[in-house]
Amino acid sequence: MSTHVSTTPLGDAWPPVRSPWPARDAPLYGQDFARDPFSYYARLRGAFGPVAPVTLEETGAFRGYLVLDHAHQLEILQNHGHVWTRDSRWYRDLAEGALPPDHPMIPQFTYRRSRLYAEGREHDRLSGPGNKALGELNLLRTRDLVEDLADQLVTSFFRDTPPRDRNDVDILGQYALQLPLLVMMRLMGMDEGSALATGDAIHEMLSGGPGAQRAASELDSRMRALVEEKQRSPGPDLVSWMHHHNREQPVPLDAHELSEEVWLQIVAGRGASTTWICNTVLELLTNPELNADVIAGRCPMDEAMNRVMWVNAPIQNLIGRWATQDTTLAGYRVNAGDMAIICLGATGADPAMLSASFDVSRTNRSHLAWGAGSHGCPAHELGTLIVRAGLEVLWNRLPGLRLAVPEEKLTWELPYIARSPTALPVSFPFPPTAPTNGQQWTAQPGFISNPPRPISTEPKARPSAPQGRLPRWRSLVAWWPRR
Ligand code: HEM
Repeated sequence: MSTHVSTTPLGDAWPPVRSPWPARDAPLYGQDFARDPFSYYARLRGAFGPVAPVTLEETGAFRGYLVLDHAHQLEILQNHGHVWTRDSRWYRDLAEGALPPDHPMIPQFTYRRSRLYAEGREHDRLSGPGNKALGELNLLRTRDLVEDLADQLVTSFFRDTPPRDRNDVDILGQYALQLPLLVMMRLMGMDEGSALATGDAIHEMLSGGPGAQRAASELDSRMRALVEEKQRSPGPDLVSWMHHHNREQPVPLDAHELSEEVWLQIVAGRGASTTWICNTVLELLTNPELNADVIAGRCPMDEAMNRVMWVNAPIQNLIGRWATQDTTLAGYRVNAGDMAIICLGATGADPAMLSASFDVSRTNRSHLAWGAGSHGCPAHELGTLIVRAGLEVLWNRLPGLRLAVPEEKLTWELPYIARSPTALPVSFPFPPTAPTNGQQWTAQPGFISNPPRPISTEPKARPSAPQGRLPRWRSLVAWWPRR
């Protein structure tokens, strides 16, 4: 007997399906798609127009409307008519158990009690403490933290490596995967022991292997323990500031909701930043004019990063949005419970966004790579800072960087959500230039101030214990597994 819930999240019976799935659809899987999704999106646009009905696996049960053009994407994300939701309990095929149960995408949108799946006032309530805590960051000091960790990672490239004319590293495994995660864990105020264990659990969970489920539960308990620890003993970190702002809320978040927010910020902060670093490295190493402009200072790193948001967006597809009522989309009749997939990877080639006279991709920020509307990214300043500082340290310390394999030899993950190569081997001449600020950091204060102590428990504010002292974090960078 099926254990699946067969009502809408409002508890009503699903309305009758009035419009059948379109007779013509296209596969959104397979080698053609993985190798060159951009040509694939262009072909879909040619065959179907701005919206294409697609299936995500061979049985055709996992399906949705792929939204290829900027105007329809914005309409759905801004959702002024309250037709679309990010609450995946509205995905009727999921609720009725019609999806292949072992499809690797399903965990990516399985409902959690967090802001990611909430709408309206509940979304405002759940996102309040997290957003306000992000607003407490001192971005200049955070930049120092990122640069210091980036310097340590670059230095680790030469650990145990004898001097050679050129050295090879995998920028994905040895740098881009590690830097944002190290930054996020440090910003959350983790000590070295829990950061090591959390890093292991995240690697394990994302590997999708047999231990993934266990690692996901371990992560949940670790987030919960961190939230409890910071309530007892606040420090200069995001979790303590979340507690502080949570106390001001009319309906505060409970411990579970707070730990969901911490989990989300770490995992979301890591994923897109990693891919943005990789895709910008690749863009620069395959676009000699742009790279020359960056090296000569004619183009700030920001502009190269912005170009990538258009031509190789870190998050390719938002899976998804679900219709809460029958509606229409670019001429298709959509039933309540149907899925739309926002194809950010296709936005850059939308004919309406291309100018015949000049290339606006460096400076035009109207791409949707940060999302839009109430679920748009709340941390674009922090994300930009991590990626920019990470790239600038690479470009400063490793002059002469180039791809170690021909671009055509790179293999790619299936670009359902993030699009990045499975490895990004680069080479550079030895020796590297010296780190610029590695020594300064030890003498600097934290990147965020101490939150005030709760008045009821402490008569006077007192400074908390120093968090994440650098010598220990140096060993964390040294420990991090090379892929
Ligand atoms: C650096 C590159 C980043 C990119 C390109 C990016 C992109 C995005 C996008 C497209 C969304 C919208 C998801 C949707 O509508 O379904 C989003 C949401 C989110 N991002 Fe980011 N992000 C980045 C970095 C970060 C960082 C560093 C954090 C850490 C705090 C973060 C935290 C979040 C959170 C919490 C949400 C959910 C917002 C909500 O549903 O209310 N992101 N991000």
